[in-house]
Amino acid sequence: MEIHIVNGPNLNLLGKREPHIYGSQTFEDYFQVLVKAFPKVQLHYFQSNSEGALLDYLHKVGFSCEGIVLNAGAYTHSSVALGDAMAGITSPVIEVHISNVHKREAFRHHSYLSAQAAGIIVGLGLNGYKLAIQHLMDMNTEEPKVV
Ligand code: DQA
Repeated sequence: MEIHIVNGPNLNLLGKREPHIYGSQTFEDYFQVLVKAFPKVQLHYFQSNSEGALLDYLHKVGFSCEGIVLNAGAYTHSSVALGDAMAGITSPVIEVHISNVHKREAFRHHSYLSAQAAGIIVGLGLNGYKLAIQHLMDMNTEEPKVV
């Protein structure tokens, strides 16, 4: 099972960027935690500050992998193109935000991505990525779901 984590602009600064909001762990360190937590999953990590590079990456992996965990950073609130890319690919995408965007400035309350997402996890810190991966795994198991 293959899952891609895709981080957008400024998320390369995790660990030193506004630690009171985003915490003090780098994503590279946290990615190792995820790799250990999900030994059966082929996990990949991609980060870019460029909208075009994020689009190209979604196009490349979004027809073959079992899921994508996307934190598009500020592009969440501005990018019609990323929303269109999510609509165009076939792999399910879970939108994640480390901070609770609804507690923050009004411009962070709207997402161009949410309508195309399989689900959204907001405000649970880095643990949101772990929960998203767990959900994508559950979506792929044959076991009957509890309703
Ligand atoms: C963020 C929230 C966005 O509003 C912000 O621009 C980010 C990070 C989050 O993970 O909380 O860069 O996506």
